[in-house]
Amino acid sequence: MSRPETNAPLLEIADFSVTLHTPTVSVRPVDRVSYSVGAGEVLAIVGESGSGKTILNMAPLDLLPAGVDSDLEGAVRFQGRDLLRMTTGQLESVRGGEIGVVFQDPLSALNPVRKVGRQLTEGIERHLGLTPAQAQARAAELLTLVGLPDPQSRMQQYPHELSGGMRQRVGVAMGIAGEPKLLIADEPTTALDVTVQAQIVALLKDLQKRMSMAIVIITHDFGVVSGLADKVAVMYAGRLSELGGVREVLLDPAHPYTRGLLASVPSLSAPLDTPFEGLPGQPPNLARRIDGCAFAPRCSLARPDCSRDRPPLLSVPRSALGHLAACPVTVNQTV
Ligand SMILES: Nc1ncnc2c1ncn2[C@@H]1O[C@H](COP(=O)(O)OP(=O)(O)OP(=O)(O)O)[C@@H](O)[C@H]1O
Ligand SMILES: [Mg+2]
Repeated sequence: MSRPETNAPLLEIADFSVTLHTPTVSVRPVDRVSYSVGAGEVLAIVGESGSGKTILNMAPLDLLPAGVDSDLEGAVRFQGRDLLRMTTGQLESVRGGEIGVVFQDPLSALNPVRKVGRQLTEGIERHLGLTPAQAQARAAELLTLVGLPDPQSRMQQYPHELSGGMRQRVGVAMGIAGEPKLLIADEPTTALDVTVQAQIVALLKDLQKRMSMAIVIITHDFGVVSGLADKVAVMYAGRLSELGGVREVLLDPAHPYTRGLLASVPSLSAPLDTPFEGLPGQPPNLARRIDGCAFAPRCSLARPDCSRDRPPLLSVPRSALGHLAACPVTVNQTV
């Protein structure tokens, strides 16, 4: 007999917006975003620098940059409970426990004046209820899993004594230490060389299968997307421009922005002198209100009405269920 909650998504983001207030300006880096992630499912979030990927994922966990005031609207439900309505104490027990986090900047996750081992074992003791000796053994095991050689001596070191790549691997170990149901991984492989990148991706895939861990991974690397993800969300100027299964979005992109983003990925098979096709123009200023499609000023297919009304996410015809794009021009063309 199936239980009703097994049908509910693990994570459900509904009409979620974030406004950040600095002393001089207010910006809206997340603007009415909705999607869901099922248990054991992997969602990749892609988009240019500054499109709001980090803020979208960190704001609900109360992990925004220090000294920035914020307004959060909408709902972010994890196992049916809205993270935006939790007390600080409730959020603290979810973070590092059922939701693991790998930070884009591993230094921000690590306390500079405490040894690496202690930082790892603390979380393990707290969230898995292990004794200090068991936690110590588990921490060494985790560091081995993420490919850090000689874990016993690494655990005696301070974060600044490790290289950037080593710190990033410690960051991944900390993210998975509590055996989370959901791992939020913000560019977990960017500072690593390709071999280690492949190891980390394989590790995440293995954990996802063995523990049925869901993953939201922010990445600029389409190799990571196709190797790991089930679904992709494409962000542009704080909004979702396209969402769907990996195959549909990568092989049959519907939004002009996704097409541009994919065209800007250098192809291994292209001759070496092929010019690099970047996206022309700049992303918009998020401090200004954007009425129509945020991509319209850079879009070769834009029509005058694109700058008037914000396009809704529409089902892409003749594609798989759940493939959505916020572009009436291309979506209607394919009918
Ligand atoms: N500390 C801050 N103070 C003010 N505004 C900020 C701050 N951090 C981010 N923002 C605003 O939020 C927007 C989104 O930032 P975010 O870090 O989420 O982008 P991102 O998509 O993760 O980029 P990247 O790929 O470079 O990591 C930025 O363009 C900026 O306008
Ligand atoms: Mg980021």
